[in-house]
Amino acid sequence: MHKFTILDLWAFVSLLSSVFSKTLPIQRIGRYLYDSTGVRFYIKGVAFQKPGTLNPSSAEHSANGGFPEPSNFIDSLADTAACLNAIKNFKQLAINTIRVYSIDPTKNHTECMNALDEAGIYVIADTSLPLNGSINRASPSWDVSLMEQYFRQIDNLKSFPNLLAFNVGNEIVTKQENMNAAPFIKASVRETKAYLKSVNSSALVSYASTDGGGYTIDLAYYLTCGEPDTSVDLYGINVYRWCGDSNYQSSGYAAFKDNFQALSSALYMSEFGCDTAPKRLWTEVEAIYSSLMSDLWSGGSAFSYYPSLQGFGLTTTSNGSDPQTNDDFTRLAKQYSKAKGPNSPTIASAKNLSTTSTCTKTPGRVRLATDANLPPAPNPDACTCVDNTVFACQVRPDRSPAIIGELLDFACVQLGGDGIYKVGKGCDAIASRLTTRSKDPPGILSTCSPQTKLNYALSQYYRYQGSSPLSCDFYGNATIENENNKPKSGAEIEQAIAKCFQTHPPALNRTLARQPSSATSGKNSTGGTPSKTGGKQISSSREGAKISAANHDCAIQQLYITLSVVLSAYGMLIK
Ligand SMILES: *[C@@H]1O[C@H](CO)[C@@H](O)[C@H](O)[C@H]1NC(C)=O
Ligand SMILES: *[C@@H]1O[C@H](CO)[C@@H](O)[C@H](O)[C@H]1NC(C)=O
Ligand SMILES: *[C@@H]1O[C@H](CO)[C@@H](O)[C@H](O)[C@H]1NC(C)=O
Ligand SMILES: *[C@@H]1O[C@H](CO)[C@@H](O)[C@H](O)[C@H]1NC(C)=O
Ligand SMILES: *[C@@H]1O[C@H](CO)[C@@H](O)[C@H](O)[C@H]1NC(C)=O
Ligand SMILES: *[C@@H]1O[C@H](CO)[C@@H](O)[C@H](O)[C@H]1NC(C)=O
Ligand SMILES: *[C@@H]1O[C@H](CO)[C@@H](O)[C@H](O)[C@H]1NC(C)=O
Ligand SMILES: *[C@@H]1O[C@H](CO)[C@@H](O)[C@H](O)[C@H]1NC(C)=O
Repeated sequence: MHKFTILDLWAFVSLLSSVFSKTLPIQRIGRYLYDSTGVRFYIKGVAFQKPGTLNPSSAEHSANGGFPEPSNFIDSLADTAACLNAIKNFKQLAINTIRVYSIDPTKNHTECMNALDEAGIYVIADTSLPLNGSINRASPSWDVSLMEQYFRQIDNLKSFPNLLAFNVGNEIVTKQENMNAAPFIKASVRETKAYLKSVNSSALVSYASTDGGGYTIDLAYYLTCGEPDTSVDLYGINVYRWCGDSNYQSSGYAAFKDNFQALSSALYMSEFGCDTAPKRLWTEVEAIYSSLMSDLWSGGSAFSYYPSLQGFGLTTTSNGSDPQTNDDFTRLAKQYSKAKGPNSPTIASAKNLSTTSTCTKTPGRVRLATDANLPPAPNPDACTCVDNTVFACQVRPDRSPAIIGELLDFACVQLGGDGIYKVGKGCDAIASRLTTRSKDPPGILSTCSPQTKLNYALSQYYRYQGSSPLSCDFYGNATIENENNKPKSGAEIEQAIAKCFQTHPPALNRTLARQPSSATSGKNSTGGTPSKTGGKQISSSREGAKISAANHDCAIQQLYITLSVVLSAYGMLIK
């Protein structure tokens, strides 16, 4: 006899919640979005993010190559009172989507998410966070700690039926020089998609790009090309072209659109508005949701409900739970109320269109890696094994990312032979190195956490110094841990690391499903091959032009900055 189980209860509750859900499931077919009744879906959105604190002279700031980065964030979905008040305004705005940039995965978002759902509003949520919670622009890497943060964000929001898309990054590439971050973004798409699959989530995966220099087009094609497992479903561009009483042609929208005509994923304006002329008329809304643009674009998200630090708010205060709406709001509401994108093409004809595009090396400025050259998947089990068995000298647990960066710089310089001690073999083992310069594969520890990487350098240094206690002090930042059970020399350290990666081979499925390993393959754990990027550096015209609350995304992991300096030096030495 069938007994009533927790699973039945769960099924019943999810049935109930889907009955009360006002939002229909959204699917991507080729480059269009459709709801479950087969009607074309357009994002009519607004950015919903209170700005954090921006400190332009902070270490975080310079670690980002000067890109504006708040040093904290406010979780707008966790403030239920503010959320409920905003929903009243969202109804007036006639939107169906909000874009939130920073979510604290330890907080409960149930009330806000359910209220949004009842109001028919979807959510696009970033998995990245400001400071060190995002792929670093200046020296990119995709590692265990970032990946686990992304998974925690997904776990927190995945069960809400109105969660439309997880956005894996906002404006990570902001100039030609950091196009080398692109393969790391794509690797984060790969792991995010695999994880969503493993938890049966049908949420879309998106990225939000700047509308910047020559890289903008290349990046769009690169992140949407190739296998569905590695390409984004929904590509966003933050477009601030239409200002004042403009039109489709003279705003530049028409010419801009031509660049993306061959895109195979859904495309939307992940931010739009005008960031120069003070009075925003929002007449672009009519164009965006018309047949002029609907064959390519699936709507957009107006910037911004709360004012950013530079303004551009649809409300007048950034604090308090019930801010006043302003004339901007009224004008946008009027436009959005009229906007209704054409219900074409039909879902049947969209199914006929190709859903993937082959990755080709773009003829232009950047020669990006193809999928075969993506950075390896982070391997948490192998990194944990290394953490537990290899390092005699370790950083104290409470040290900030900035201190970790400085110490790594110091230790790697010593190990690399540039320092006064000229010991060791450098920091090759921890290098991410999918850069334009390097021909070498990424180091074996390239996907482990910043702490693991630092502990590698500290322990190598300590052993090369003959295990003198003074050489594991680092101004009071490091301690000796259980050293008798740890490798005693540089060579033994390398062997112990290799052993961890042999006994815990890369097994994406196992890692993602968090199931016991059944893999026994002796595959080489460093994985990946170096990319053949070799772009010329072309400066972007709009880079740094806009400072918004949205521009929260960069990691501060200063270690990567300093490390990249060291590695660049190696690159030059090798050549
Ligand atoms: C989150 O809040 C909701 C509504 O207040 C509550 O029902 C639920 O149990 C909470 N979830 C957790 C994990 O605390
Ligand atoms: C960012 O740094 C904090 C410590 O300051 C750490 O707890 C957190 O895990 C780091 N996040 C990532 C993704 O590395
Ligand atoms: C996902 O769905 C499959 C098939 O319906 C089911 O066997 C599996 O347990 C589900 N996994 C999760 C994490 O819910
Ligand atoms: C809210 O913002 C205003 C204007 O920026 C400021 O004067 C006021 O002190 C703030 N109030 C709170 C509670 O933060
Ligand atoms: C799909 O493509 C096939 C073959 O090209 C064509 O015969 C059919 O009419 C198309 N269907 C739609 C709905 O466009
Ligand atoms: C730790 O390292 C940082 C950076 O090198 C240094 O400024 C600091 O004095 C060290 N000691 C402590 C206890 O933070
Ligand atoms: C993961 O699982 C899928 C299907 O279960 C399989 O096709 C794929 O080869 C697996 N990938 C790895 C890396 O084991
Ligand atoms: C990994 O590759 C290195 C260098 O090519 C090689 O020396 C080593 O034996 C390989 N390890 C395994 C487990 O295949």
